[in-house]
Amino acid sequence: MAPRTNGVGIHSEDTRVCVVMVGLPARGKSYIAQKAQRYLKWLSIPARTFNVGNYRRHDAPHPPAEFFDTNNAEGERMRRAAAEAAVTDMMKWFKTGGVVGILDATNSTKERRNWVLERIKREGVDVIFVESKCDDESLIMANIRDVKTTSPDYQGQDPEQAALDFRNRIRNYEKVYKTINADGDEEHLTYLKIMNVGKQVIINRIQDYLQSRIVYYLMNLHIRPRSVWLSRHGESMLNLEGRIGGDAELSHRGEEYASKLPELVLESVGSDRPLTVWTSTLKRTILTARHLPKHYNQLQWKALDELDAGVCDGMTYQEIADMYPEDFQARDEDKYNYRYRGGESYRDVVIRLEPIIMELERSEDILIISHQAVIRCIYAYFMQKTQEESPWVPVPLHTLMKLTPRAYGTEVQVYKADIKAVSTWRGKGSTAKHEDPTPEGGV
Ligand code: ADP
Ligand code: F6P
Ligand code: PEP
Repeated sequence: MAPRTNGVGIHSEDTRVCVVMVGLPARGKSYIAQKAQRYLKWLSIPARTFNVGNYRRHDAPHPPAEFFDTNNAEGERMRRAAAEAAVTDMMKWFKTGGVVGILDATNSTKERRNWVLERIKREGVDVIFVESKCDDESLIMANIRDVKTTSPDYQGQDPEQAALDFRNRIRNYEKVYKTINADGDEEHLTYLKIMNVGKQVIINRIQDYLQSRIVYYLMNLHIRPRSVWLSRHGESMLNLEGRIGGDAELSHRGEEYASKLPELVLESVGSDRPLTVWTSTLKRTILTARHLPKHYNQLQWKALDELDAGVCDGMTYQEIADMYPEDFQARDEDKYNYRYRGGESYRDVVIRLEPIIMELERSEDILIISHQAVIRCIYAYFMQKTQEESPWVPVPLHTLMKLTPRAYGTEVQVYKADIKAVSTWRGKGSTAKHEDPTPEGGV
């Protein structure tokens, strides 16, 4: 088989991994599964989650807590059938090119884990078990209220009744639950055990680069409330001329934005929250950050520098269209993959941003001041934008964006500085210098 290249630059003969979630209900398994899937897909690694609860809902849409009692033969049969159906679909998906399949279920007994392992390994797919173990009762109750009372399992039911029933469902699981390797006879398994949201982790027998990337990412997740703010630099002298790249100073209006930014940030962040500011190494982002309060930590990252336009650096889109017409068209046809001669593609930028995403996952409140293409790539990670969409996302100048991750998805708030700037957004097939994507030029 031809070597496969994937987004993180791993050349693997035929790596396929099944991440098997383990843990009692309301331990964040679906949350972890969904984050892993989003991260991998952002890196161009085909990943998909198979949620056993969704399969079970075909036959048992609103099961009461007793359904999950292992003495309930009918419940056991249906749950087993749901697990079989999910694994069967996952195996079919691997055959169509899937690389990381995530089996989102409780898999809370040794018997179930053995069955899953045998079934999946038989088809040549590696298995990593990822267990979330948590005994913080108040966090579990918060999780139940946060996501379980609105689950389709309890559609139309009173949230208080639903929370009570879910607590009883967990009691039924607790009767048979065995944490991985509790008896010392699961030493042969590849697993990551995350205890109390990462306060402690156990890693066992991780095998290759892809597995270790997944494990490292999952180890860095936290659920403390926080936001990420994104802004482009203030309008630059080259923006005024419609020229791309370079390392220009700010225009007069760009300077105005830099002066206004502390006020905008304070309004959104509040004065009592510590904030860390990351800029690129280019003058226009550093100048934009320079009036922010001195007690904010500031860090410059080369990885946040704008997409390198190679031989086209410093040119206008019209000059590029005139000098390299084929390149100009090729970029419009596949903007994500098009690599400037001697420069970068959006795909290249995503790969160099991976450490930024990893650090963002570990961190609390961060303000990133960077550039159009880079902000699009970071935005795509949080908002699950596809490769077709992400290079075209409008990110206007003089606008602050606040992204707040929630249990399932990210909330966006936009703050406009009300300082005029050129639009650097360019539509497909156009060489227009100042074209606006929406009447408001909004995100
Ligand atoms: P499960 O799939 O285990 O039933 P969910 O993923 O539906 O649980 O629960 C989501 C909730 O769990 C969210 O409110 C999220 O903040 C929280 N959560 C995320 N990670 C963890 C973790 N490692 N331990 C406990 N709770 C977590
Ligand atoms: O025009 C500003 C800019 O940041 C350029 O430096 C960069 O090449 C460009 O935007 C990226 O946007 P696009 O991918 O739409 O050309
Ligand atoms: C479910 O039915 O919601 C479920 C997660 O199933 P199991 O515990 O059998 O994996």
